[in-house]
Amino acid sequence: MSETPVPEAGTPALSVRRLTKFFGRKPKEALDRLRAGAGRAELAPLGTAAVIDADFDVRRGEIFVVMGLSGSGKSTLIRTLNGLLEPTDGTVTVMGETITGMSPKRLREVRRRHVSMVFQHFALLPHRSVLENAGYGLEIQGVPTAERRERAEHILERVGLGGWGDKMPSELSGGMQQRVGLARALASNTDILLMDEAFSALDPLIRKEMQEQLVELQQELGKTIVFITHDLNEAMFLGDRIAVMRDGRIVQLGTAEEILTDPADDYVAQFVQDVDRSRVLTAGNVMEAPRAVVTASAGPRAALRAMRDLQTSMVFVVGSGRRLLGVVHDRDVLRLVQRGERSLEPAISDDHPVVSADEHLSELFESAVESQLPLAVVDEQGRLLGAVPRVTLLAALGNVSSNTGEHAVIETPATIPVDVITATLHRTARPDTAIADAADANAVAAAAAEAADIRAEATRADAAGERSPA
Ligand SMILES: Nc1ncnc2c1ncn2[C@@H]1O[C@H](COP(=O)(O)OP(=O)(O)OP(=O)(O)O)[C@@H](O)[C@H]1O
Ligand SMILES: [Mg+2]
Repeated sequence: MSETPVPEAGTPALSVRRLTKFFGRKPKEALDRLRAGAGRAELAPLGTAAVIDADFDVRRGEIFVVMGLSGSGKSTLIRTLNGLLEPTDGTVTVMGETITGMSPKRLREVRRRHVSMVFQHFALLPHRSVLENAGYGLEIQGVPTAERRERAEHILERVGLGGWGDKMPSELSGGMQQRVGLARALASNTDILLMDEAFSALDPLIRKEMQEQLVELQQELGKTIVFITHDLNEAMFLGDRIAVMRDGRIVQLGTAEEILTDPADDYVAQFVQDVDRSRVLTAGNVMEAPRAVVTASAGPRAALRAMRDLQTSMVFVVGSGRRLLGVVHDRDVLRLVQRGERSLEPAISDDHPVVSADEHLSELFESAVESQLPLAVVDEQGRLLGAVPRVTLLAALGNVSSNTGEHAVIETPATIPVDVITATLHRTARPDTAIADAADANAVAAAAAEAADIRAEATRADAAGERSPA
């Protein structure tokens, strides 16, 4: 039947094109003036430009969050998405079907199939049981009683209300009532859920629980969700992408990380300043290229030299394919060099914190507190991707920029003076030693440079009348 076209793979769940919604007299005139650059304030005598030139897609299976101050146009925008409001200009396309200008009958059909809504104040029918409420959408669709019952029971189970079907809404807590609202929307089995401040009336703890459950359900059922909220932490927690609205316009659209680290303007920056960054940013977001890395095959002398040059007490040691083997500390490596050992192996310790790129900073504090070392970020194959210095975590706690670019030293400070290391390298150097240590061409070149280095260092020390302790 031509009534139910199947959208092509890859079609966005929602496409919004240059959508403007003006409430008031003379919408055409208002539109012209908006197009000519008039602001919301100038149009106030005519009415309210609630949404101005909104233009975005919502991908299938995405949680798309809209946030902004009260009156910024969020509810107006979401109501155009299911055709509850007709835009003054622009179009809305739902799963490939443009609903703007559609007949009411067709629109109802599209809504029935594709879009359901969860309201802030639950909007349950007080004289119907929980089960009847959950199945209400299906009842409207004309689904037979037995099937309705079965689907409603199943979905109540899914939202954690198994066994509550016979109760009345008034017998349920706020959180449970909102679960019924969610169940009702889910039971309809539409692709898209619109949620306008759906959790705003809940206590903080219940609200957190609902957020987590929503993410779980979304992952399981693959719904596309448009979620409106005032609460920034909620937006950051839920949103795959977040649209920030101001005075009817979308002023920024991006991932939580993009909005946090690169706010489009002062309004957005001010908006996000209170966000708990540690819950949003991941190790992968803030990690830096570790400077203190040596390959195991380069040997103890190369490792010691690297530590001297970086003035750090430790370096990461990687094997083939940049697989992280562990860390070595300057004192242990110094001992190896003093003993003339060729292999770095005995000094490698795997006693240092390793995390994966998708762990939130809030999950990293414990590891960071227990260790002096930067956290090593590795992929599933154990390859070293980067390092998170402790200062980065502290910066996140203090809600300052997570970029440590301005911190000169991110590695752990050296515990052995440069002169001591240089002298040891010098004293233990034999013409063949450096070459034997060097297992690859890079290391050979480095060894040559080192020899020159050591000579220069020795000359300098001599000239300055410094005595090396060796
Ligand atoms: N039906 C309407 N008639 C006239 N003006 C309206 C109508 N609906 C909304 N507005 C105006 O449009 C603007 C945007 O309102 P909207 O409800 O979309 O904001 P919001 O971002 O959802 O705010 P809140 O966070 O308070 O829910 C407001 O100035 C509001 O007064
Ligand atoms: Mg609103």
